[in-house]
Amino acid sequence: MSVEKLLPEEKQGEALNAVSRNSNNSKKLYLESYGCAMNFSDSEIIASILDKEGFDTTQDFKVADLIFLNTCAIRDNAEQRVRNRLNDFKQLKRKNPSLIIGVLGCMAERLKSKLLEEEKLVDLVVGPDSYRDLPNLIETVEGGQKAVNVLLSREETYADISPVRLDSNGITAFVSITRGCDNMCAFCVVPFTRGRERSREPETIVNEARDLFERGYKEVTLLGQNVNSYLWTGGGLKKDNPSEDELKNATTFAQLLEKVALINPDLRIRYSTSHPKDMGDDVLEIMAKYENICNYVHLPVQSGSSRVLEMMNRGYTREWYMDRINAIKRFMPDAGISTDTISGFCGETEEDHQETMSLMEWSGFDFSYMFKYSERPKTLAERKFKDDVDEATKSRRLAEIIEVQKQLSHKSNIRDLGKEFKVLIEGVSKKSADFLYGRNSQNKVIVFPKKDLKKGDYATIKVTSCTSATLLGEAVQS
Ligand code: SAH
Ligand code: SF4
Ligand code: F3S
Repeated sequence: MSVEKLLPEEKQGEALNAVSRNSNNSKKLYLESYGCAMNFSDSEIIASILDKEGFDTTQDFKVADLIFLNTCAIRDNAEQRVRNRLNDFKQLKRKNPSLIIGVLGCMAERLKSKLLEEEKLVDLVVGPDSYRDLPNLIETVEGGQKAVNVLLSREETYADISPVRLDSNGITAFVSITRGCDNMCAFCVVPFTRGRERSREPETIVNEARDLFERGYKEVTLLGQNVNSYLWTGGGLKKDNPSEDELKNATTFAQLLEKVALINPDLRIRYSTSHPKDMGDDVLEIMAKYENICNYVHLPVQSGSSRVLEMMNRGYTREWYMDRINAIKRFMPDAGISTDTISGFCGETEEDHQETMSLMEWSGFDFSYMFKYSERPKTLAERKFKDDVDEATKSRRLAEIIEVQKQLSHKSNIRDLGKEFKVLIEGVSKKSADFLYGRNSQNKVIVFPKKDLKKGDYATIKVTSCTSATLLGEAVQS
């Protein structure tokens, strides 16, 4: 349902190539990424570490010396896709035993050395905090052994590593600001695969964003599992109980946003993901104050039922969520708002499901990522509750949620007809070379005739027609 055409969701499993580099590295790395933007951003760190080891990226796994899958464990089907993909490489490995195959990221962290037993062709298992160790691990494998490093860290933020931008359009880039997650949402595997939450030093974030701007980039998306709880108190790990003195010198997420916004008014800022329980007015105030901080909030609700939210251990109620939506609209009446939902969580009744649908209607989300509950080993829900909503009911509820969102997206697009938006042009439309596409502040994709416009420009576009997924428009003289 998403109109976020170019977010990683669309690129799952594609090998992303490093662009605009002329290195003469002789060895080839084929790197496929799955999961969230954070994983895609990690792939850029992996590529950077391996670049120094003499590896160039390739999009053809047949010529690779090293095949890496940077994996996701969020739902069972995410892991299934990786296992299927590993199957594809079996023949290749048989023909070329010196080929090294590695599983990295969240599935590696979850399964640890078990993965080597389950998938015989895998040589290397590396968790999200161990990428600096990759050169040693590769050496171990070259010496004929298997290698595993799944240690999680309380400090690692890869702050000093300059990512190699993969498959970049040269205009938009991700910048990681926190790693890990300290929430324990009952359904979620992330705290187990990515460890404790830690914030990255603000200066390194601002420097990375400024460097991107100087290289022609026009938009950065600040990334974390829960960006609103970003807090730099002079050390890596977010302190549970910072002293008053530490807090005085601390940098909050709102302050970080402001620092990045001040780099240049032509550098747009987005961020993802927000957690409703930590979404404070201070952040909304800064967003409203700076034109270059996009008026778009992704605020995952998961469920509209306070009873289910409590079982999910989300730390807020339906009413709290509604209050946050009201606050967003108060500070930014034109804001784009999107969400995530889970259908069929343990004990979800028909009434709970109706509450999710009514909350969606009330909020009027512009788009949503909608999922069926998938039980994950070790999580609170797996230990405490029964996965008791049957598959057919989960599917039916999900289909109903998707239908509600489809209507909402269409209505939201119809509301935009005739409006003018400042759009950052990201590239040529996939459908026709005579058209360009870009996004407005609200994160909607708009397609329009090329004329004399080009990628990287800001243009004022008037919306002339729409489908439920895309806006079409025309450039106006501004
Ligand atoms: N840190 C982000 C979300 C990361 S996972 C946040 O808190 O918002 C992205 C989405 O996947 C979640 O918002 C949730 O909707 C979904 N998800 C997570 N675990 C899931 C599970 N076990 N089954 C189904 N969906 C899940
Ligand atoms: Fe998972 Fe909750 Fe953390 Fe998001 S906030 S990563 S859903 S535990
Ligand atoms: Fe998946 Fe890990 Fe991201 S489990 S959603 S890749 S943090």
